Amino acid sequence: MICIFGGAFDPPHKEHIRIAKEIKEEFGFSEVVFLPSGNSPHKSLETPYDVRISMLSVAINGAFPIDLTEGTLTERAYSYKVLPLLKEKYGEIAFLIGGDSLFALDRWRCPDAILKICPLIVVPRGDDDLSALRCAADSYIARWGGRILISEKVRGESVSSSMIRAKAELELDIPEVDPSVREIIEGCSLYRRYTSIVERVRSMLREGRWRHTCGVVLAGLKINERIGLPFEKVFLGCLLHDCMKHTDRINPGVPEDVIGTKVLHAFNGAEEARLAFKIEDEEILDAIRYHTTARGGMTTLDKLVYTADMVEEYTRDFEGVEHLRETAYRDLDEGFRLCLESCYQSLIERGISIYHLTMDAYNEYCKKE
Ligand SMILES: [Fe+2]
Ligand SMILES: [Fe+2]
Repeated sequence: MICIFGGAFDPPHKEHIRIAKEIKEEFGFSEVVFLPSGNSPHKSLETPYDVRISMLSVAINGAFPIDLTEGTLTERAYSYKVLPLLKEKYGEIAFLIGGDSLFALDRWRCPDAILKICPLIVVPRGDDDLSALRCAADSYIARWGGRILISEKVRGESVSSSMIRAKAELELDIPEVDPSVREIIEGCSLYRRYTSIVERVRSMLREGRWRHTCGVVLAGLKINERIGLPFEKVFLGCLLHDCMKHTDRINPGVPEDVIGTKVLHAFNGAEEARLAFKIEDEEILDAIRYHTTARGGMTTLDKLVYTADMVEEYTRDFEGVEHLRETAYRDLDEGFRLCLESCYQSLIERGISIYHLTMDAYNEYCKKE
């Protein structure tokens, strides 16, 4: 039996190759076939199919075959339509999916049809709970029949392609990809949609603050893995959050009562994002504006930027940060609440006056009945 390993591979990373090797061994597959997605129903792909194939070819380096079926399809390549074509071509097949996909299986197009075509092989990701995965698998099987096998030995480390794309945008090292893939990323200038904004923010910040900003972008994207906000909102909100940290210039639109206070840079930054960076998305602007004070009625993006700012891994090392970080990666609402609580207590201890929006947020999210 062969195993089909589908994905956008945008870009392919070392984890993909490791998982293929280990799954092949654990389940005794005769082969693992990589199936790069054509026009995915789940996300709008930006990197052209042929460029993704080039990256995948050098990453795999002959160790596994690549199936080009989806590149030839003109319609949306739903799994329930593609898998029968592959079964015809290869004989008995199994279909590899991540733990996150298993949890979302009932939102796939025709999951019952997929389970009738072939067994699913599930690779748990990061800190996926095995018993929760088994429970989900059992309930699908009870509803639709078929077989779902969860890997006992292989676990995907928390490497995500969106994190790698962000690192490329920020011109950071990308140890997660093979150097030959990195060459294509650089040669084709992939993942450089925001170069002018990145360069400009970088020029406005001192080195330590830039490092913190990169940390916030990456922490924001990591939190977002469980939430699924659009990449652009998370990336730009985090990237721009502290852009006015080192500037005295005050933009129009900043409230009078924040001038001369520590929270000025957040309000000033939102106006700078609007005026200088031409950001029109009010959700992004709000997330920048309220990243220091918080407010009542926080949006998910507000909470995400606020929390990522506090728990990022590059420069935040205060006592207790690990617990906050671990909670935020698992559960944003709870992570945010703990961050807000900790921030509020620290302001009280240091005798710093509490801005009225912070008071609103504290009353809404932290005050016990
Ligand atoms: Fe800030
Ligand atoms: Fe910050």
